Amino acid sequence: MATKKVCVTGAGGFVASWLVKLLLSKGYIVNGTVRQPGSQKNEHLLKLERASENLTLFEADLLNYESLRSAILGCTAVFHVACPVPSIVVPNPQVEVIEPAVKGTTNVLEACLEAKVQRVVYVSSVAAICIRPNLPKDKDIDESCWSDKDYCERTQNWYCFSKTAAEEQALEFGKRIGLDVVRICPSLVLGPILQSTVNASSLVLPKLLKGCDSMEDKTRWIIDVRDLVDAILLAYEKPEAEGRYICNAHTIKTRDLTEKLKIIYPNYKYPANFTEVDDYISLSTEKLQRLGWKYRPLEETLVDSVESYKEAGLLQSE
Ligand SMILES: NC(=O)c1ccc[n+]([C@@H]2O[C@H](COP(=O)([O-])OP(=O)(O)OC[C@H]3O[C@@H](n4cnc5c(N)ncnc54)[C@H](OP(=O)(O)O)[C@@H]3O)[C@@H](O)[C@H]2O)c1
Repeated sequence: MATKKVCVTGAGGFVASWLVKLLLSKGYIVNGTVRQPGSQKNEHLLKLERASENLTLFEADLLNYESLRSAILGCTAVFHVACPVPSIVVPNPQVEVIEPAVKGTTNVLEACLEAKVQRVVYVSSVAAICIRPNLPKDKDIDESCWSDKDYCERTQNWYCFSKTAAEEQALEFGKRIGLDVVRICPSLVLGPILQSTVNASSLVLPKLLKGCDSMEDKTRWIIDVRDLVDAILLAYEKPEAEGRYICNAHTIKTRDLTEKLKIIYPNYKYPANFTEVDDYISLSTEKLQRLGWKYRPLEETLVDSVESYKEAGLLQSE
């Protein structure tokens, strides 16, 4: 069993909660950063198995270096997961999205340098990989591809801009000062929720199941949160892990996803029509699979997500 002390930023969020759960189950001692330690929205963390002995919550904001420093001191690894993930258009993207993502990442990495952390695993996104015009459709997109920040800016896609700028920052900072930073780029994260608040990606399936007259037949690139946290841990534990990893399991058009859901849950409403969208690209996960990573079938993710949303009151029963 491991007895290493590690830090997870934004511990109360959707992905980070599952990561904290996994780390505790493997015997790690975890420092979790949250913005409001006493808030009811972080209570689920305290109920995780072994939390009472091995989890300490630190109050920290990504824009407050000192607060991060206290949480990271004494840790051998840092999992930088925290980042604003807006589900609606925000009035001031520079302050609400870009600064916490980019400056926040620098702050975390500087605190890691000061604490002599051995490895940082930074959670980026496919938003930093494939938001650019004219992506090739005849070959897999791999880790060498980067989103075009100018294009993100022109299309006011501030979340994708912020994830691209933050990952560039992580890459450059790591290289410059010789800090080992491994980056994981997940696609749309689904799966059961542990937290009591709603995160942006957990709104996608409920929207589909509530029905509407028409919806765009967009491609969805999907990863289960439990498979994602396995990948994040592999990126830390495997000495040979390096650079960037795309983390995606299933690529499916929304219409086909709807058909799958209809077979399992025939009584939800679903969109009546779909309009064509020419957005299909294939993401390569060969590099991550070479580390030994595996993922579960889509049906399992869909059922576990829907059942969890029902339990959380995000979705009515059929
Ligand atoms: N979910 C997806 O589909 C998806 C896909 C690709 C990549 N990702 C990446 O995965 C990571 C986690 O996403 P998630 O879905 O778990 O989102 P989430 O549930 O919204 O969690 C985001 C976390 O970041 C924290 N945070 C935001 N701004 C902060 C700040 N200024 N200082 C400190 N903490 C701050 C939030 O803390 P509070 O609780 O205090 O607000 C929250 O704990 C993010 O880096 C995201 O970009 C997610």
